[in-house]
Amino acid sequence: MAEQSWRLVLTASPLQGHMSPMLHLATFLHSKGFSITIAHSELNRPDPSNYPAFTFIPLPDNLSSSNTPSFANAVQFMQTLNDNCRPHFQELLVQIQKQKESIVVIHDNLMYFAGSVATHLGLPSIILRTSSASTFPVLKIIPQLHQQGRLPVQDCMLQEIVTELDPLRYKDLPFSGLTVQQTLETINIIMPKKTPSAFIWNTLEFLEPSALTQIHHHYQVPVFPIGPLHKIIPTPSSTSFLEEDTSCISWLDKQAPKSVVYVSLGSIANIDEKISTEMAWGLANSNQPFLWVIRPGSVKGFEWIEFLPEGLVTEMKVRGLIVKWAPQKEVLAHSAVGGFWSHCGWNSTLESLSEGVPMLCQPFELDQKINSRYVCFVWKMGVEIFVERGEIEGAIRRVLVGKEGEEMKQKAKEIQGKVKVAVSHRGSSQNSLKKLVDFILSL
Ligand code: UDX
Repeated sequence: MAEQSWRLVLTASPLQGHMSPMLHLATFLHSKGFSITIAHSELNRPDPSNYPAFTFIPLPDNLSSSNTPSFANAVQFMQTLNDNCRPHFQELLVQIQKQKESIVVIHDNLMYFAGSVATHLGLPSIILRTSSASTFPVLKIIPQLHQQGRLPVQDCMLQEIVTELDPLRYKDLPFSGLTVQQTLETINIIMPKKTPSAFIWNTLEFLEPSALTQIHHHYQVPVFPIGPLHKIIPTPSSTSFLEEDTSCISWLDKQAPKSVVYVSLGSIANIDEKISTEMAWGLANSNQPFLWVIRPGSVKGFEWIEFLPEGLVTEMKVRGLIVKWAPQKEVLAHSAVGGFWSHCGWNSTLESLSEGVPMLCQPFELDQKINSRYVCFVWKMGVEIFVERGEIEGAIRRVLVGKEGEEMKQKAKEIQGKVKVAVSHRGSSQNSLKKLVDFILSL
């Protein structure tokens, strides 16, 4: 690294699926000699004691823990967060500027205030994107679909392919629960207001080549696909906001190889009681062992698992284990896990690809339906799941046992092999990281 002293100011969003990749990226950049400041909201703050070499600066956000984001309040939540953090962030950057270091701001796309403050102060900024690259062409085309009268989607069109987004169908488009106006507002928040100096994308070149090319053509700035970040560099400890129940690992140790269905629907989704009960019956009837993460409060109207009928709980305990939060990456890497029933959040998808675990896909919102379509139709390592007890039972069998499951496992293993190559010395993600470091030093 040059004589000059460099400070990278990383601005993380208070969402689990965004915070973890940002901390992995910070750990990597620190290993390359950069000084690191993490500017973060007070809500869901990271634990500074895990990163003694970093400077952590909380930005007062006036949000309480009861203000946690959901799909329904996403726009208002992000606007409040950005409005409240902006002035404090500006003060912070002005103070750092006095220290005569070269500063680069790296921010989550949802923390767009950081990019606009950086521009205002004449500093370069880079956006970290933690969702799939394939989401970009979708978000870009939605306003056009609206102008052409193709949104809102007619029921008869749901199974049809959106020609410009092949292989995505109209039913895979995000924001189906929002009005068109709300959809356009949400896209306005997610898409960058100003072109940054570059993008860092937590994805892999071989997975999403066409989307990455489109992003580069559109913005005409470097795009660095450097994922999966959790495989590039481990963080010193867990990046979870919730406490991980590690007892599930010793439970997994007692199960037969590739026999367990691991079920987790991520950090945001709230699920209806009826759907959760169908999930429970499907699992209980499947005759496969299962590990089910039920996040406290994630089943609407219940604190935890009170929605389960007493008899079913007893039945489930015979073969299954329910926890509040699991060490997911460790679980997916465990030899007993044979399938991952997931909402297809991008981190969960990358984690499954990295361990070669076939998936049962139950997407809800945002990029999840897009990711699910890629997992099932393009990468051919999963099945879409329809949440009804009989269908679930069948889907678990399809993936865990039988010929179709074997083929999916084979595909998943091939992808795992390619991920290993990408993150190894001279692999595509390592090359991108090297280019990223050179790019930062050239700013
Ligand atoms: C959602 C979107 O679906 C995602 O695509 C978007 O980029 C961010 O918002 P989320 O619901 O958090 O994300 O899902 P995901 O991106 O999969 O992230 C969840 C993270 O929590 C994963 O890293 C996973 O390992 C971790 N997790 C989940 C645990 O550590 N333990 C658990 O029990 C469950």
